[in-house]
Amino acid sequence: MQTIYYDLRDTKGQQKEIEDKISAAAKILREGGLVGIPTETVYGLGADGTNPAAVRRIFEVKGRPQDNPLILHVTGAQWLPRYCAQIPPVAYTLARKFWPGPLTMILKRQPAVPDETTAGLDTVGVRCPNHPVTLAIIREAGMAIAAPSANTSGRPSCTSAQDVMEDVGGRIDMVIDGGPCAVGVESTVLDLTREPPRLLRPGGLPVEDIERLIGHIDVDRAVSASLRPEERPGAPGMKYRHYAPKAPVTVVTGSPMNSARKIAERAGPGAGIICFDEYAHLFTQQVVRSLGPSSDKFTQAQRVFEALRSFDSTEVEEIFAQCPDNRGLGLAIGNRLKKAAGFHVINADSQRIILGVTGGTGAGKSSALRAVQDLGGTVIDCDLVYHRVLAEDDAFKNAINEKFPGVFSAEGQLNRKKLGQEVFAKRDRLDQLNAIVYRFLVPVLEQVVASVDGLCVLDAINLFESGLDRLCDRTIAVTAPTELRVKRIMARDHITEQYARLRVNAQKQDEYYRGKCDCELNNASDSPEEFRRDAYLFFERLVEAIQEEKRHG
Ligand code: TXA
Ligand code: MG
Repeated sequence: MQTIYYDLRDTKGQQKEIEDKISAAAKILREGGLVGIPTETVYGLGADGTNPAAVRRIFEVKGRPQDNPLILHVTGAQWLPRYCAQIPPVAYTLARKFWPGPLTMILKRQPAVPDETTAGLDTVGVRCPNHPVTLAIIREAGMAIAAPSANTSGRPSCTSAQDVMEDVGGRIDMVIDGGPCAVGVESTVLDLTREPPRLLRPGGLPVEDIERLIGHIDVDRAVSASLRPEERPGAPGMKYRHYAPKAPVTVVTGSPMNSARKIAERAGPGAGIICFDEYAHLFTQQVVRSLGPSSDKFTQAQRVFEALRSFDSTEVEEIFAQCPDNRGLGLAIGNRLKKAAGFHVINADSQRIILGVTGGTGAGKSSALRAVQDLGGTVIDCDLVYHRVLAEDDAFKNAINEKFPGVFSAEGQLNRKKLGQEVFAKRDRLDQLNAIVYRFLVPVLEQVVASVDGLCVLDAINLFESGLDRLCDRTIAVTAPTELRVKRIMARDHITEQYARLRVNAQKQDEYYRGKCDCELNNASDSPEEFRRDAYLFFERLVEAIQEEKRHG
């Protein structure tokens, strides 16, 4: 399909020609076609929001998940009653102050809005964009335009008509070039069906501006963190990995000076860097995209998507990004960067916290470790590191071979069964093996830990015997009543009760771990999800306490 490209960057000149182009766009929309439209935030992929077939085409062209609703674009608050029900007065207060502008309000919907547009929800998002061309098109078309951001699903949003052509050119009817987007990040999405209203997506209108007008608003958890799998964000779109370039992104928060230093320390030659102007000179070997001065969030918002997109046409294999603080537009800019990074975030200001987690089989250590990851922590599986070192380090192999001749094949493969038989039931042989393992493993683990920022957790069965506990700020025993452990192992490993009891009894008992560790996380819950939530809160509190301690020396 040929996509018509209309240049309407300059709306001062040939009035007749401009009006003709606007009419042509409105006609396409009325007939169920798709038009790439400029707005002050990002470009939209517009269709008649009341036409189910047209809206379905948006989803097809974008490759957008079916459960992610679209925003209706209108020319002012006078359109609200057509599409929304039970409109609270605060909606008009907000519209008066912030429309046209980067604010989307979620309200109860009228039956006039098809399920296709709202993804079956009983609410609808509405906004009045601040762009003369698009406002003229909506007026002329005479209906609300449903428009998501014009990028193909998962890619960074489009802030120029060229971006739109790149993503969906050839698959839509028309693109209107209204110039580069003045704001650069999408609208702020505010749910007005709740009291107090809730921020679902930070955007071009800062939270502070909204709160100054209408008082406190709640903030959906999806705004600042990666959600746990069972959690549902207020805005369905917030659960998807988004805005992501092909290369993995690491966001470095903290003071600009610290984050620049941290990135300089980590980024190899050829990495992609998104940084503030002042620090660009640090990265002579890398591919640099400047966000603008660290104090100028307007420019950063305008540039953030283009910076992310631009790496896709380079060879960079990893990307590091500096990140503004959360005030004003910074919340939206940081949110887009962090989403692009799948919430892989390093805080350059924060100190490392190391926890050691241990406990017997069936107690719930895996769920506890997942909770650590939910918190953004890094889990180091010491057993995995052991096997890696064993495969790679000849000195390690030789040391074992010396004490246990014949456990390696001619190709250097460890015969685990044979080694197992050697040490099983022979306490002194096991001690000898462990001594070797710890000697080689602990220095490696120390290095691994040193490369992690923020929260780092060692998952080690022999946390104390190995001496790894000495690296830890705290050690945690995951414990559980014996009967529950037996039940869990039976279900998990499909084994008989007798065998499960044997396994539990063959291990160290909870008393041992309780006696050794600084803290205990007891898992008496029948539901792994419930325990994972408890564990999340447990670790959150523990980390806060340790941070507090470190701050006060
Ligand atoms: O600035 C913007 O808002 C741009 C321009 C084109 O207007 N549009 C935009 O649309 O960003 P989109 O579809 O990329 O993002 C809309 C977000 C999604 O996260 C979606 O889940 C959420 O708004 N949303 C839409 N309708 C909703 C509803 N009824 N309830 C909750 N969230 C909703
Ligand atoms: Mg989008």
